[in-house]
Amino acid sequence: MSFPESIHALVLAAGKGTRMRSNLPKVLHTLLGEPMLWYIHQTLEKLFGDRVHTVIGCGADKVQAAFPECQGRFVLQAEQLGTGHALQVAWESIMSLGLRHVVIVNGDTPLLPANRVQQLVDAALTENAALAFLSITPSDPGAYGRVLRGDDGAVTAIVEAKDYDVAAHGPDRGEVNAGIYFLDMQLMAPLLPLLKNENKSGEFYITDLVNLAVSQGLFVTAVECGEQPELMGINSPFELVCAEERLAAAIAAEWLQKGVLVRNPGLARIGPRVALEPGAEISGPCELYGRTVVHCGARVDSNCVVRDSELDSGAHLRHFSHAEGARLGPGSIAGPYVRLRPGAVLEECAHAGNFVELKKAVLGKGAKANHLTYLGDVEVGEGTNIGAGTITCNYDGKLKHKTVIGRNVFIGSNTALVAPITVGDESLVGAGSTLTKNVEPGELAIARQRQKNLKRRK
Ligand code: UD1
Ligand code: CA
Repeated sequence: MSFPESIHALVLAAGKGTRMRSNLPKVLHTLLGEPMLWYIHQTLEKLFGDRVHTVIGCGADKVQAAFPECQGRFVLQAEQLGTGHALQVAWESIMSLGLRHVVIVNGDTPLLPANRVQQLVDAALTENAALAFLSITPSDPGAYGRVLRGDDGAVTAIVEAKDYDVAAHGPDRGEVNAGIYFLDMQLMAPLLPLLKNENKSGEFYITDLVNLAVSQGLFVTAVECGEQPELMGINSPFELVCAEERLAAAIAAEWLQKGVLVRNPGLARIGPRVALEPGAEISGPCELYGRTVVHCGARVDSNCVVRDSELDSGAHLRHFSHAEGARLGPGSIAGPYVRLRPGAVLEECAHAGNFVELKKAVLGKGAKANHLTYLGDVEVGEGTNIGAGTITCNYDGKLKHKTVIGRNVFIGSNTALVAPITVGDESLVGAGSTLTKNVEPGELAIARQRQKNLKRRK
């Protein structure tokens, strides 16, 4: 599925998103861990390759920073005077690319299905339309622009909800504009400067092009998409979560279809970049985001949050655990209540138990840290056991330092390792030690006060 080089796409993403009541630009609000605009770009890139341009304005710096790969394809609308104004601002830069047609997409419609865009372009090209757009008939047409049709059924105008007047425009038929348009650039160029902001919002509306085109005798058509909730815009937190729920349900259902065991799927939130192998097992409620990969035979129990992490075959992340930027090797077990931070690696069959935090920490093959432990900037060798309550003191207030623990070491409970420090292979550290000096291979290190037992005075 892809379009001729002479068709580009333009995303309108400069608006304030006032109804979100948030300082974050609307298009950066996330669904399942990815910004709204990410979804639009994904869909449009499938159809247009890199011929996708984006109008930004509110929070432009933040939007640019979130999409560095789109550098050079942003257009700045410094003042947001409406969707028609956004198009006017972008027009010069897209015209200069020598295009014939442009597809315009509202940036707040992240679930837009690619096949609807395809259908829009096909219909417009076949019917030789000057302007075409997608229309929907939601159960509640709310604040959408109403599509007006003449007696012959032909589209005559889009009237914004605020400006809609039954006396002037006739009874509301419930057909509304989805905010996805196809324009013949040559035919639209003379109409664009004619947009006026004489309406209830005082904005320049892209939708006024419809009536302008019709009054010039140009052919305008709407592709009717029925109820199709994926085509609904996101303007408020409520609409955002409705769309997110819909997406989460669709993604969980898709993985189930592909042979992934998703228990309690209604509460499994799996991001669009997550990869699950058939034979993996996930239990809701849970959240899996970013580039997380779960291989066949690996398991994520309920109440886990996993981001950008990989679980190898047979790995098991037990209940109430967090993993971010972590790797769980084959047969490894982590949790319940574990926190794996970026750079945490459990090699084959390693264990990290309850209330254990790992950061830039490698637990070697079969190594164990089963209780109440913090391991930061550490390498732990194969077969080593880290006793309960062990802490690496990796930070001196300014810098982080490394701890290296060898193979088959036994670290007694409640040990503090003051880094930088190395504990050699096959060594043993007595419980309650505070180690500040290296331990050589095979040594027994004890660094604690000797116990004194005195008579108790009454
Ligand atoms: C718009 C349509 C409406 C349609 C609905 C579909 C207009 C006037 N109305 O209404 O007919 O039913 O979408 O969801 O277009 N934007 C800019 N610059 C601006 C203003 C907006 O880039 O100056 C962007 C926004 O970031 C947003 C998109 O354009 O992504 C649509 O703007 P929004 O304010 O959400 O329009 P609606 O009121 O939803
Ligand atoms: Ca909108």
